[in-house]
Amino acid sequence: MGRRMELNVLVLPGDGIGPEVTREAVRVLEHVAARWGHALRLREGLLGGIAIRKTGGPFPDQTRELAMASDATLLGAVGLPEFDDLPPSKRPEKGLLGLRKALDVYANLRPVYCFESLIESSPLKNDIVRGTDILIVRELTGGLYFGQPRGIHGPEGSETAVNSMVYARSEIERVCHMAFDLARKRKRKVTSVDKANVLENSQLWRRVVAELAEGYPDVELEHMLVDNCAMQLLLRPTEFDVVVTENLFGDILSDEGSVLAGSIGMLPSASVGNRLPNGAWRGLFEPVHGSAPDIAGQGKANPLAAIGSAAAMLNYSFGLTEEAAAIESAVSQVLDSGRVTADLKPTGPPASTAEVGQAVCDAIA
Ligand code: IPM
Ligand code: MN
Repeated sequence: MGRRMELNVLVLPGDGIGPEVTREAVRVLEHVAARWGHALRLREGLLGGIAIRKTGGPFPDQTRELAMASDATLLGAVGLPEFDDLPPSKRPEKGLLGLRKALDVYANLRPVYCFESLIESSPLKNDIVRGTDILIVRELTGGLYFGQPRGIHGPEGSETAVNSMVYARSEIERVCHMAFDLARKRKRKVTSVDKANVLENSQLWRRVVAELAEGYPDVELEHMLVDNCAMQLLLRPTEFDVVVTENLFGDILSDEGSVLAGSIGMLPSASVGNRLPNGAWRGLFEPVHGSAPDIAGQGKANPLAAIGSAAAMLNYSFGLTEEAAAIESAVSQVLDSGRVTADLKPTGPPASTAEVGQAVCDAIA
């Protein structure tokens, strides 16, 4: 048994299926904390649509303070149809973007892994998806999501809308360093994805990555245009290792990646940036999927992306690799058992969100 730790975690269940998948991730965290003797200190806060309803804004000051005071934040999902007609600045999603920026978590790690027992869950041919093991490193606090100027201007009937893809060299460098460092622990290959045949922004991106690569002679670098990458991911996914890219490109490619993993309900993510004084990464951990309001509250949602995000938290924020590996191996056992939610197309009746969470706890040795 390793060191006993104090884990200060903020939980932001958010909207739609967020609360129910987060509940299962917390169940697993509590189980692991008890089993390994860690003190889990949970706080809960408001973010997204629920925060707009209760406080008038998607990212209340209190949530910001709680997040800054925690070692790690576990998030469910944000977004509700009732806010669909509002401008971006007033929507639930704005809360999530504000939180990412406040925590300065500039690198969003999104593993896309095809479990052998889920091979039939993907609509793609078995031979294509078998062995897929990709880590998408999505830049998370810059690019098109945050660039200025932005807005809709001009009189109704003849408006102009603008968004800007902006990157400073330093922003490209820090996320690409992260990608190269991560590749060194994997298959030592980085695919940098851009649109350098059209965008100046991508030309700078490509130049900076190529310069950095000289410091990593043991890692192979390839450049790929984003449109081609969208195609290659479905044609030959097993040839990718680490993929590093701009914020919006990464958002789009990671949803595509979920088709390789069998379901978007399988994709966890870890957003990291700067290290805390104790050496741990202050991170934000959230499933890649959205709030799926159409199935919210019905116990149908797959909690494995949220549970995988909790495992990533133990790994990255607390260095608890043994505990994280125990969760991952329990998830694999549950998948093998076939007691999975409907999105994974089980042969028998689908399991509920809570049953899957409990099964993961039961499978942790
Ligand atoms: C994601 C989501 C978010 C994003 C939304 C909810 C703002 O799609 O995490 O991929 O676009 O980053
Ligand atoms: Mn997305």
